[in-house]
Amino acid sequence: MPMWGGRFDKSTDALVRRFNASLPFDKRLYNEDISGSIAWARGLQHAGMLTSDEGERIVSGLEQVRAEFDNGTFEFHEWDEDIHTAVERRLTEIIGGLGGKLHTGRSRNDQVATDFRLWVMRACDRLSEHVVSLQRALLISAEEHLNTAMPGYTHLQPAQPITWGHWVLAHFWPLARDRQRLAHARAQSATLPLGSGALAGSAFPVDRAALADALGFSEISQNSIDAVSDRDFAADFLYSAAMLGIHLSRLSEQLILFNSAEFGFVIVDDAYATGSSLLPQKKNPDTLELTRGKSGRLIGCLAGLLATLKGLPTAYDKDMQEDKEPLFNAADTLELALPVMGGVISTLQLRPEKMAARLQSGMLASDLADYLVKRAVPFREAHELVGNVVRLAEGRAVALAELSLSELQSVSTDFEADALDVFDMQAALNRRKLVGGTSPEALQQQLRAAWTQVS
Ligand code: ARG
Repeated sequence: MPMWGGRFDKSTDALVRRFNASLPFDKRLYNEDISGSIAWARGLQHAGMLTSDEGERIVSGLEQVRAEFDNGTFEFHEWDEDIHTAVERRLTEIIGGLGGKLHTGRSRNDQVATDFRLWVMRACDRLSEHVVSLQRALLISAEEHLNTAMPGYTHLQPAQPITWGHWVLAHFWPLARDRQRLAHARAQSATLPLGSGALAGSAFPVDRAALADALGFSEISQNSIDAVSDRDFAADFLYSAAMLGIHLSRLSEQLILFNSAEFGFVIVDDAYATGSSLLPQKKNPDTLELTRGKSGRLIGCLAGLLATLKGLPTAYDKDMQEDKEPLFNAADTLELALPVMGGVISTLQLRPEKMAARLQSGMLASDLADYLVKRAVPFREAHELVGNVVRLAEGRAVALAELSLSELQSVSTDFEADALDVFDMQAALNRRKLVGGTSPEALQQQLRAAWTQVS
């Protein structure tokens, strides 16, 4: 029978029992649930609601339940509706009727919110560590090829020369922001709802601040109604997860392109690729495609939770049971996707010769305009003049650097003999020395700043 059978004449319909149950997914909260219950039992004991002997027996019973979960011997019962009822049912089997005192002054509403917050706090810590590992892999790649020149793209059109180090570091900083978002989600989760009861607060004098300390929360909630209905922390977590997914997806997309025969800038290691069942020659970057695809799921998890929360009346409603699966799903997805991406990055083979082959002097058209600017030509005019130079080169089907000085001078007499020196790629890279730029010094500085974030 369920825990709440007293006022019912009939037993729940079998399908409804399945429909109502959250056990299939919330059983993974057993550790948090048992920790929360132990803290609550101690709280009741200090409040004089349990003798110290009763407190000890409940706590050791709960530790025994935890051990059964840990070693895989815990047996679920057909009437176990969720993890909370399963733990309490088993506790009562072990220690007898005394187990029935544990739920004094507590509701599953404050209990589940407490368990879930604890779980989210831990998930944030785990994900953050995974993000750091990926960031380190990116930094090592950046370090190895800090000054390897490659084309930089905007609109996926060749734009200006950059370096591999610069490009890889561009994927480091979004992850640094993701870690800040995870830290924010963790901080939002660290408010203790326990002691809120069903919604109106608990009538027993349990010390909530002591509960918070015991469980690792940094604050206690100030409004019991809000405390049992607040799932903002879950939305914060899913937003962080969705953003992480988007960043991984963009990195994947770009690597898929770079790994294609058309670009050929990188080779994804065999360990991170798969074959085609029909086409023997194929080696597909499935890992990256899946990472890109899974970002859709992560966005869906966030959108799903927000839709569930919208329009709920104050305090707990059963809709809220739908909060857990998207978070578990998102966390599990990222706990695989992040280390997989780390592996892709650390085994990635670069082909600097292919990158170099794609560097065309046309990518230095803006440097040619800057050359005129240094001769006091206003930038807009310089832009127009270099546009004419580009047209001239296109008309002759040659690269910009292949134009002669006299051809340049046919466009503007401000071009002098040294104008052709502009087409030195390395010099163009060297010129971009402002913080954040692609010059070797700026990149060294950026790399140092990046390392301080992950060491
Ligand atoms: N299984 C429920 C959940 O995950 C626990 C809270 C149920 N509370 C209630 N009053 N029915 O949300």
